[in-house]
Amino acid sequence: MKLIKNLLKKIRAKLYHNSDNNIYYGEFIGSVNFWRLVKWNFLYFEKILFSIKNRQIKLINYFINKFKIKKIKNTFIKEKLQFLNNNGFIVLENYFDENIIEKIIKDNETIIANLKSQKRNENSYHRFRGVPLTDNLVKIWLDENIIDIMENYLNTKLYSRMYPAINYTHCAYERTSKEIHTKKIKEQVASYWHVDYTNTISVTVFLSDVDKSKTRMQVVPKSHFNLNSFFKISDEAIEESKKSVVDCVGKKGSVLIHCGNIIHKFKGVSNSDRLQLTSVFSSGTNLALNVNHISSCLSKNFDIDSLDTRKRNLIKGIFPISIRQGYEMQNEKIFPTSYKGL
Ligand SMILES: [Fe+2]
Repeated sequence: MKLIKNLLKKIRAKLYHNSDNNIYYGEFIGSVNFWRLVKWNFLYFEKILFSIKNRQIKLINYFINKFKIKKIKNTFIKEKLQFLNNNGFIVLENYFDENIIEKIIKDNETIIANLKSQKRNENSYHRFRGVPLTDNLVKIWLDENIIDIMENYLNTKLYSRMYPAINYTHCAYERTSKEIHTKKIKEQVASYWHVDYTNTISVTVFLSDVDKSKTRMQVVPKSHFNLNSFFKISDEAIEESKKSVVDCVGKKGSVLIHCGNIIHKFKGVSNSDRLQLTSVFSSGTNLALNVNHISSCLSKNFDIDSLDTRKRNLIKGIFPISIRQGYEMQNEKIFPTSYKGL
């Protein structure tokens, strides 16, 4: 069975991409070409089925959202959602006050110092998952406006898929996809064009100023409408498509929201680092439940059940709610106990 599966996997890969050229080579066989993406989706149809099941066909959602936006009364949410719906990303410049950002940095100075101490003379990525929750951190992690924008955008009930994390990225070398390919470099940072899960949406709060002269994220606006794919995309494929590339920049406290389906990359600038608070939300799949991260998040004795109902429900996939009669195991999976009597 395993042999047949492996054989089918190889046949499928061969049918999708047979021989390398200047644009498609090695691991960089992802594309922005419509017909190539049609072929990919025909061969890897299970991802389309997954997107349909999660109601995350972006073009359909675009039209639903367009209609929905007209009815939104809050002008801030209306305007930002419109931009996100059209482009697949948005930067909310100077969204959080610098004072609250400074407090978060101060509260987590040991974590940040430890991340920075791990920096090596190469492109390296250091992440602390499960930042201890405090009132200030929750204000940023589960901000009402941001949640509203994302929930409207995904057009389904929103769930937090990851615990808040602090990321420190060090860039030692600027790299092209051709260089990564020819020198067989295993990059720790995603310094190549790619997409994330189709049904996720990510929030990045800048804990340091980011401008075009520094290490930053770049996106290809409107590429969230593209058909699914999961391969890395070469710089040459983006250049050939003549699609525009946007730098996601802003002062400390700015917020970047990006759809999982948008093409993006880490644009490194030598000897320029970045520090961010990141979190990811989804339509209810890929929830990264982890007991160690729960323990870390609650290490400052934050009372998770003191959150209002909306926030508590939003995070219940990664902080399960205690239920009467508890849970039961069914074929190695956990479900609420089905028998409700004594
Ligand atoms: Fe990514």
